[in-house]
Amino acid sequence: MFDPQFFDQKHIQENSTVALTVFAVGRYLDAYLTTFLTSAEQHFMLGLPVTYYVFTDLPDRVPNISLAPQRHLKVVPVVKHSRWQDVSMMRMKTISDTIESELRHHFRYVFCFDVDQEFKGRFGSEALGDSVALLHAHFYKSQERKFTYDRNPKSKAFIATGDFYYHAAIFGGTWANVKHLADACYLNIMLDKQSNVEALWHDESHLNKYFLIHKPSRLLSPEYCWDLSIGHEPDIRIIRLKWAPKHYEKLRT
Ligand SMILES: *[C@@H]1O[C@H](CO)[C@@H](O)[C@H](O)[C@H]1NC(C)=O
Ligand SMILES: *[C@@H]1O[C@H](CO)[C@@H](O)[C@H](O)[C@H]1NC(C)=O
Repeated sequence: MFDPQFFDQKHIQENSTVALTVFAVGRYLDAYLTTFLTSAEQHFMLGLPVTYYVFTDLPDRVPNISLAPQRHLKVVPVVKHSRWQDVSMMRMKTISDTIESELRHHFRYVFCFDVDQEFKGRFGSEALGDSVALLHAHFYKSQERKFTYDRNPKSKAFIATGDFYYHAAIFGGTWANVKHLADACYLNIMLDKQSNVEALWHDESHLNKYFLIHKPSRLLSPEYCWDLSIGHEPDIRIIRLKWAPKHYEKLRT
């Protein structure tokens, strides 16, 4: 449905550079990081300069992956919050701070990924855009009323009527747009804390509210983050990234 060479040539000519942020905190590091990084080296933005920013509370355990030319990995130490909901929500602040202090000076694009995923096919420069969101594999064909938006009017993530349901496992864009998104979500998470409410799906609920107001310029199909447990779907021609098996009971304690 697109010409990969067209996008690759355009981005090589424009000297596009990409920072990929990923959080590997606590047990998530050992469970997922090696697979995530080695598969990214096979499929993610090949031919472009890419730097992985791994945020972790266990910097010594980050695996030593061999990287292709023009590709780098930086480890950024972070503190582990005791509740996984807070780990997930605080990443918005960490992303914003890192864009401000470092990424804005070196990269045109920033992509933020969950670590519990594995690249299986091309995830290339066609996915770059000013503001990039991903349609959630479980909801891309659902009726709006089935979306798991936050429906509590007391939360800043509240949505009465929306359009799409986005997955927070992947979002990206120019550094300025990703910073704007992260700042807006973080502010609303903090306002919710002040009013003693927590959005139904945490940072994902806030992300959905953000993209409802600030429409993404590029929408990725669920090919870019497919859940194999859904089974065969003729819409999904190429699985480019798949959800890794989730072991919440073991990993989130
Ligand atoms: C890309 O880099 C080359 C070599 O440094 C430079 O000549 C060219 O103007 C750059 N292109 C853009 C769009 O910045
Ligand atoms: C990582 O691996 C490379 C080559 O595979 C090696 O040269 C380097 O010393 C290793 N670094 C660490 C910290 O183990």
